[in-house]
Amino acid sequence: MRTLVLKGKEAIEKGAELIASGEVVAFPTETVYGLGADAFNEEAVKKIFAAKGRPSDNPLIVHIADISALDGLAEDVSEAAKSVISAFMPGPITVIMKKSEKVPLSVTAGLDTVGIRMPSHVVAREFIKACGTPIAAPSANRSTHISPTSAEHVFEDMDGRIPLIIDGGDCEVGIESTIIDMSTDVPTILRPGAVTSEMLAEVLGAVKTFSGKVVVAKAPGMKYKHYAPSCETVVAKDVGSAVKAYDDAEEKGLKPVIIARSSTAEKLGGRTHIDLGSSDAEVCRNIYAALHRAEKIAGFIVCEHFGEKGVCGSVMNRVMKSAGGKIV
Ligand code: TXA
Ligand code: MG
Repeated sequence: MRTLVLKGKEAIEKGAELIASGEVVAFPTETVYGLGADAFNEEAVKKIFAAKGRPSDNPLIVHIADISALDGLAEDVSEAAKSVISAFMPGPITVIMKKSEKVPLSVTAGLDTVGIRMPSHVVAREFIKACGTPIAAPSANRSTHISPTSAEHVFEDMDGRIPLIIDGGDCEVGIESTIIDMSTDVPTILRPGAVTSEMLAEVLGAVKTFSGKVVVAKAPGMKYKHYAPSCETVVAKDVGSAVKAYDDAEEKGLKPVIIARSSTAEKLGGRTHIDLGSSDAEVCRNIYAALHRAEKIAGFIVCEHFGEKGVCGSVMNRVMKSAGGKIV
């Protein structure tokens, strides 16, 4: 299969045509690129799992362009869920609610809940609107790979596996949406993101963050290894340990690289590094592109610890998974 990469109106028209004929299309969102299919077409949904190499017990998020689409998808929407939706949608959040009968079990991997997300990205919204159907979509990477934040990243993973990538440029947010489970009595964050627990607590009073051991995985994705670069990756707790890990790796003949924010990058004495920028938003926006580049140019990745405050906590959630939890 030849994989087209298109932009603008032509891309959206072609994308909608392909979705109507039961195909899979990659499209941009403000978080990461998604791999979409008609959520009501089970054959099309199967193609997503095949293209990604994703286990079928890992559910997909359903994307909508307008809040009115919620009606046919979710049931028992609580007042609390409504307040989260009105505060943060459209935007980088996925809300888990009880699913309606219309949502196929192949989308939710047999669960009686569904994750709903309304992206803020203009191209995503236009694409979903043109499709005229909710779009089931995971991130557009091969299973266990780093999520794509540009059309090029998608192409690297999906060339020959899907008919079309809609190119909408680089993703603004840069990490996947916050997932909040509103189907239970106590709202629980299943995956942290740019909508932080502090922001959610302001709307809900209190939220539970998912932490500790996964006994029964609520976000089934949690039991899979995620966001894994192809070479060893470690997190450095400070500049000194970053430099030491780098020098040790170099001595072993590995080609190391350090991923850091600008203020740290200045203190690395000319060692090979990728500078993410200075603000927390830039660190978040650029982290996946940095991991993508790092695995290409290096044989050993050292990533700075960005702290746990605000969106940095969400970034570290991803980086710690990349590093398999290894801190130096
Ligand atoms: O930002 C995002 O959320 C991106 C863009 C494309 O929208 N999508 C994304 O999808 O990251 P994915 O499939 O890579 O991650 C979705 C996660 C998975 O870990 C899945 O297990 C979990 O959401 N999930 C989906 N539906 C669920 C449900 N009903 N209950 C619990 N977890 C669910
Ligand atoms: Mg993913």
